[in-house]
Amino acid sequence: MPVNVAVLVGSLRAGSFNRSVADAIAELAAPKLALKRIEIGDLPFYNEDQEKNPPEQWLRFREEIRAVQAVLFVTPEYNRSVPAALKNAIDVGSRPYGQSVWDGKPAGVISASPGLIGGFGANHHLRQSLVFLNMPVLQQPEMYLSKINGAIDDHGRLTDENVRSFLAKFVDAFADWIARTG
Ligand code: FNR
Repeated sequence: MPVNVAVLVGSLRAGSFNRSVADAIAELAAPKLALKRIEIGDLPFYNEDQEKNPPEQWLRFREEIRAVQAVLFVTPEYNRSVPAALKNAIDVGSRPYGQSVWDGKPAGVISASPGLIGGFGANHHLRQSLVFLNMPVLQQPEMYLSKINGAIDDHGRLTDENVRSFLAKFVDAFADWIARTG
């Protein structure tokens, strides 16, 4: 039985490099892990007042996360932190109080950037939230993918063999991590 894993991509843009990374890792992970990308771009900004009558997008998102065994975050860095869309999705999933969909689910974090430090700041800001949300996060191998634009072809396919083999190692470690902590 494959292990179902939600993939949240922190970028909303059509030509996202991080989306290309997420698509490549989904291919590499099958059939061991079934990675499914969950949409976050349609989630209204979190507002506690709306919990009385929550937007259907929040409810859909919470159900989708509840249904999986683990979560993989693949994100760019915006101003040395996590893009607002991803933070919003985390906040939506964390409420109502006491009913967080994240609680106890194993997680992995990959950050990718055309820059030289591979989204390190976003990667670690995200980890701060995941500690609070009680998600055991894979620590090794760390995945800060720098100069990612050079690893992806004009069709958005991640073609760089070094990056692909690094991602394959990550998949093995993440699958073991889920088995141990999930
Ligand atoms: C960026 N970018 C960026 N890159 C980085 O390495 N560190 C950073 O702090 C930032 N900050 C930042 C802020 C904002 C608002 C934008 C739009 C961009 C550049 C970013 O890495 C680049 O646009 C990536 O291509 C975004 O990832 P996707 O969309 O290709 O997945």
